[in-house]
Amino acid sequence: MFGQQIYMDHGATTPLHPAVLEAMLPYWTQDYGNPASSHHFGRMAERGLEKARRDMAELLGTRPQTIIFTGCGSESDNLAIRGVMAAARAAGRGNHLITSILEHKAVLGTAKQLRDYDGYELTVLPVSEYGQVAPEDVAAAIQPNTVLISIMAANNEIGSWQPFQEIGAIARDRGVLFHTDAVQAAAYTDWHLNDMPIDLLSLAPHKFYGPKGVGVLYRREGVELLSSQTGGGQEFGLRAGTVNVPLAVGAAAAFRLAIQEQQSRTACYQQLSQQLITGVLSQLPPDEVMLTGHPTDRLPHHVSFAFRGLKGNELLMHLDMAGIAASSGSACVSGDPKPSDTLIALGLGEAWQKGGLRFTVGSQNSPDDVAYVVSSLLEAVHKLRHLSLQYA
Ligand SMILES: Cc1ncc(COP(=O)(O)O)c(C=O)c1O
Repeated sequence: MFGQQIYMDHGATTPLHPAVLEAMLPYWTQDYGNPASSHHFGRMAERGLEKARRDMAELLGTRPQTIIFTGCGSESDNLAIRGVMAAARAAGRGNHLITSILEHKAVLGTAKQLRDYDGYELTVLPVSEYGQVAPEDVAAAIQPNTVLISIMAANNEIGSWQPFQEIGAIARDRGVLFHTDAVQAAAYTDWHLNDMPIDLLSLAPHKFYGPKGVGVLYRREGVELLSSQTGGGQEFGLRAGTVNVPLAVGAAAAFRLAIQEQQSRTACYQQLSQQLITGVLSQLPPDEVMLTGHPTDRLPHHVSFAFRGLKGNELLMHLDMAGIAASSGSACVSGDPKPSDTLIALGLGEAWQKGGLRFTVGSQNSPDDVAYVVSSLLEAVHKLRHLSLQYA
């Protein structure tokens, strides 16, 4: 096994699919014009960009004019939330935003900044022990001045799906806009946005074998958004800056593959995930390890544990030495030794709060890889337990 490297951090990012790279290449080297230019080079680039927009729209079940290319998932979240809140305030339509405690920082950090620095009202909803928001809590939090509800489709750290369609239906019924952060979830469910109660949706192609540096924001027609980045009139005047055509093309190519192969990818990932879950839970007592998030209503490629009395970061170090890449929760906070806000929000006691560990399987993983990960993880757990007893 020496020298072997196993990547099980696909929730952080994925490798680029070779077919996606191939689709992008001509737009770096040949059709490299600025899509806003009217000459031949510009027209070729524009053709690529608009085809990518049409493809994204078709795959999401919507119309091309609802698709905005951004720079990443975080930017899509920011544009949706800041844009809608600013437009509503300017029109005197309200000042209140609802979100959940389990959102990614791209949403929760944005919402808190709007509250703390811009005077917006914010309600942050709690979650159940499985990390799910109760639709009735959403309904109860709506006020006459509520503008937007932002609840993710599925969680990055613990994998649970949210009842986002139910929440969207409540929002629509009450005349409130609904945004969902589908950065982790986009590849694992079917979207028919024309018929779904979703007004804004964020996704990030690098989570499904597409390129980094591009995000997508779906904005239902008629939803008013104030651009937070001023400049040229690109992307319907909502996201100034020369569009990165190769990345937009790559985004659409990766999403097409993800949707086409959704069933086979899901079945394969579910099998690997289940092998990992069973392998770990069957070997350790339940007062030492637990699966975090919902046991079944979770992303197919996502496995998350909490270990009592251990630190996720230390487990990660041992795994890294064994050639295994995982994460101690959201990739963005891997280096952070603080207790996990997510595990606190689930109601886990102090002894568990630093012991989060996330594995997200992907297309290059095999059952042999999972078996190796299980044995390496158990070895790391035993070593760290032994050390903590020794120095207790
Ligand atoms: C749920 C969720 N939202 C937003 C983001 C941010 O996406 P990006 O890193 O593309 O900006 C992430 C990244 O991990 C995520 O998991």
